[in-house]
Amino acid sequence: MITPVENADLTALNSFGFASRAQYLFDVASDAELLEAVAYADERQLPFLVIGGGSNLVLDEYIPGVVVRQISGGYRVLEEDEGSVLLEVAAGQNWHQLVEQVVDAGWSGLENMALIPGTVGAAPVQNIGAYGVELKDRFVSLTAYDREKQVFVEFSASQCGFGYRNSVFKSVAPGRYIITRVRLRLNKQFVQKTGYGVLSQYLNGQEVTARSVFDAIVAIRQSKLPDPRDLGNAGSFFENPVVPVEQCEQLRAAHPDLVAYPERDGFMKLAAGWLIDHAGWKGYRTGRVGVYEKQALVLVNYGQGSARELMDLASKIQASVMEKYGVALVPEPRCYPQ
Ligand code: EPU
Repeated sequence: MITPVENADLTALNSFGFASRAQYLFDVASDAELLEAVAYADERQLPFLVIGGGSNLVLDEYIPGVVVRQISGGYRVLEEDEGSVLLEVAAGQNWHQLVEQVVDAGWSGLENMALIPGTVGAAPVQNIGAYGVELKDRFVSLTAYDREKQVFVEFSASQCGFGYRNSVFKSVAPGRYIITRVRLRLNKQFVQKTGYGVLSQYLNGQEVTARSVFDAIVAIRQSKLPDPRDLGNAGSFFENPVVPVEQCEQLRAAHPDLVAYPERDGFMKLAAGWLIDHAGWKGYRTGRVGVYEKQALVLVNYGQGSARELMDLASKIQASVMEKYGVALVPEPRCYPQ
């Protein structure tokens, strides 16, 4: 029988470092413990929130109800053939440590996603991605607990509905499923994916390995993203907006240096960092929160800031980008309470 910590301090459990308390916090290490935490909330009709690494969260001062943290980590090899391995990874596993472990094991496929904060269980929710690779490219299936039907279920890749920073777990049924295990297929041979501009420049034509790509990504990310241990943040605060090609061309006519990439057919993805930067926000500071000086897509907590202050700043940025470019910015992190 596990018991929750009451009035638990979540300050160290969210990468913004906002002072926040949970009514009840459960650290669960197994399926059985997870079910106990679910039953605790259901019997008392309490709100229920699962947090991973807390790196994509904006937490208010008080989170009523039950907060669950999965603390089980590690992976096992389910299948192995000549060219690939199939891994099953526990939800509580730290993502970056997994990436480093698989690179050390000689497997390729995750190295472009080095240094993304958070846990493996959170990774499918927003289909994490960086430098030309997304989780969905390596994903095989996952196991989740369905709170509605009260059973563990399996999801194939297509059932997850992955899109850019999106999945059914985020958009269709938020809160319904608790992801407990994720299965990924990796290559035994190094498969190079280094076309992303800044990455190919960094590697500069030299011969590369999974390890050197991993090292390059770590260096690139460290050069432009603040370490949450030094400066609270949640990585990119806004998604890169996807707009019809015609709208992008109109914007480009007025702003020739606009940064945009082809997305799916007929749509372009605009660099939100460029829009925010060119609307004059880079390095802006108000009270105890602000816009990171090296990357305008990252909002930061200088210490003692609050979710309220941050969301006020986010609204101002959204209004300003809408006014200047007619483009709506959508926050990437989940905000609690909503
Ligand atoms: N830019 C500016 N000013 C800025 C920031 C960026 O002009 O202040 C321009 C850059 O010059 C560049 C373009 O915007 O041409 C894109 O910037 P960058 O390559 O740094 O990537 P991003 O679009 O800002 C996305 C992801 C990151 C991911 C990188 C690399 C989103 C919302 N963000 O950032 O993911 O690491 O690409 O693949 O898709 C995250 O989601 O938390 C995250 C860090």
